[in-house]
Amino acid sequence: MRVTIGEIREMKQRGEKIPMLTAYDYAFAKIIDEVGVPLILVGDSLGMVMLGYESTIPVTMDEMIHHVKAVVRGTKHAMVIGDMPFMTYHVSMEDTMRNAARFIQEGGAQAVKLEGGEVVADKVSRLVSCGIPVQGHIGLTPQSVNQLGGYKVVGKTAEVAVRLLNDARALEEAGAFSIVLECIPAPLSQLITERVMVPTIGIGAGKGCNGQVQVVSDILGLFTDFVPKHAKQYARLNQTVTTAVTDYIAEVQAGDFPTTKQSYEMDKDILDQITA
Ligand code: KIV
Repeated sequence: MRVTIGEIREMKQRGEKIPMLTAYDYAFAKIIDEVGVPLILVGDSLGMVMLGYESTIPVTMDEMIHHVKAVVRGTKHAMVIGDMPFMTYHVSMEDTMRNAARFIQEGGAQAVKLEGGEVVADKVSRLVSCGIPVQGHIGLTPQSVNQLGGYKVVGKTAEVAVRLLNDARALEEAGAFSIVLECIPAPLSQLITERVMVPTIGIGAGKGCNGQVQVVSDILGLFTDFVPKHAKQYARLNQTVTTAVTDYIAEVQAGDFPTTKQSYEMDKDILDQITA
């Protein structure tokens, strides 16, 4: 049985911190699920860390669905959340519903995430009323990078801080089951977390949030184009992979790989027959 939105809400009520991680493929999703992460986000960050785009803006629904399916196949327990890409929930209500439904029906995800506060509350409300759990996302919303003028901390002025508080309340009222707070000053995240009943999941938003989310490639040291200030590297997989591939090249070039251990034998009589 997979983690439910009710269980996530109860974690906040019990004061239990909620770990969330991104995953983009079968193999990593399987490990993350088996270790016990309750929320797995197939983030549109895959555009940057898996597909090599400069931002998340070019990511398409088809690309997202492809990765969501792989993650769903690799998981048994976690709730899988599909991240709605740029402009797939802005054009119209019909469009929003159709795209969100694809994540659930075609992709096999249990929930969707979309960026924005009050401005998307009507969409959140409609999705929830149709039985689609929605995770909100406010603060630094990477799909608006061109509007924000870069990847920066959001909420340092009184005006923006009040807007974020209102956004969080609007998402809660619309029925979001949790809200991602990205790159928001820690004291403001703490205040938002106290003012809403739904769990907040922070990324670069301090320890006062009810949970934390990170991009898996950042914490494993796999994506090294840049390392965000809020990311801690728990491993250096890029170094591990570099060493392994360098050793492989050296052994192939030296004729040391493969050995008999990695080779297949055949019946000597048959070999004699064909070489006679
Ligand atoms: O796309 C993503 O990975 C995200 C997380 C950083 C929250 O939106």
